[in-house]
Amino acid sequence: MKINKVCILGGSGFVGHHITSKLVSKGIQCLVLTRNPEQHKDLRVLPGVQLLTANIFDAEAIKPHLASCDAFINLVGILNEGRNKQGFKQAHVNLVEAAIKACHTAGISRLLHMSALNANPGQGPSRYLFTKGEGENLAHKLGHPNINITSFRPSVIFGSGDSFFNRFADLLSLAPIPFPLACPDARFAPVYVGDVADAFIHTLTDSKSFGQRYNLCGPRIFTLEELVHYTAQQLGLKRKIIRLSDRASRLQAEILGRMPGQPFSIDNYLSMQVDSICQHNNLLELGIAPKDIDDVVPLYLGFTSKQRRLSRQRQAG
Ligand SMILES: NC(=O)c1ccc[n+]([C@@H]2O[C@H](COP(=O)([O-])OP(=O)(O)OC[C@H]3O[C@@H](n4cnc5c(N)ncnc54)[C@H](OP(=O)(O)O)[C@@H]3O)[C@@H](O)[C@H]2O)c1
Repeated sequence: MKINKVCILGGSGFVGHHITSKLVSKGIQCLVLTRNPEQHKDLRVLPGVQLLTANIFDAEAIKPHLASCDAFINLVGILNEGRNKQGFKQAHVNLVEAAIKACHTAGISRLLHMSALNANPGQGPSRYLFTKGEGENLAHKLGHPNINITSFRPSVIFGSGDSFFNRFADLLSLAPIPFPLACPDARFAPVYVGDVADAFIHTLTDSKSFGQRYNLCGPRIFTLEELVHYTAQQLGLKRKIIRLSDRASRLQAEILGRMPGQPFSIDNYLSMQVDSICQHNNLLELGIAPKDIDDVVPLYLGFTSKQRRLSRQRQAG
């Protein structure tokens, strides 16, 4: 199976940037369909990337763009639906339906679909995980037997441009005051975005991955409190973390969920009621050795305190 060009939905986001640049570095052209091409001009500078606007919820609008493509990648996902009470359903389920329909009519037989660890239409504790599970199942059901689907179910993803470590870094840097942390015992196995991108690229043409659903995790498990401590340490900040009780965590989610941009919502709180860790990490069977946060995070969260000290010593010398 030779893939020369891939059509990507959500290719303008954090994970999309990493997958797109890896694909073009391998000589595979990328057509990124986006709602706002003006906001993502940086992608255009990559040779082999085409950025076009399209109504990605409409199969008829997607179909003509697929004519020149050999495969399809769906990375669209949202963590909060804001005031649009159908937001999760639209982004995680309706969009999948439109994408599969467009693939069927355009004769595309390969689709890589981004889901999430713990996505589950039966027991998803939050609307995010519930609708992610619905979309994942729908992709496999509607695609069968003509479209070969592979789904990816990562824990929280880290890397340059992430909204996990970077968000906590921003919050911790705001002021030297105690940091009230909701769900401090929630557990994660952060997975490197480069490893996630490699999983997509390795499987693109691998028939063994057809119909598979891969859980993707990093090599270590951390509580949220440990990860926030780690972030502060990387920034050289001393911050007292106040562990919120379950009731206080919920209250914080209720309050912040009403604020513009919903920095933390009840749905986020519910997602964290189930540990985001792999019973079986499929990265290993894809031949990818998962990178640790220590290998990557210090490179983009700023210098470690040791590097800062060395840098100061050099300047003084
Ligand atoms: N980041 C993580 O830690 C993590 C963990 C597990 C799973 N995932 C999944 O991985 C995928 C990519 O995540 P990411 O962190 O790269 O997300 P991201 O940076 O927010 O990018 C997602 C892209 O989806 C498109 N999009 C966003 N909201 C949309 C909406 N309401 N309707 C249609 N399109 C919309 C946007 O593209 P345009 O603006 O160009 O239209 C955006 O660039 C998502 O499916 C997410 O659920 C992420």
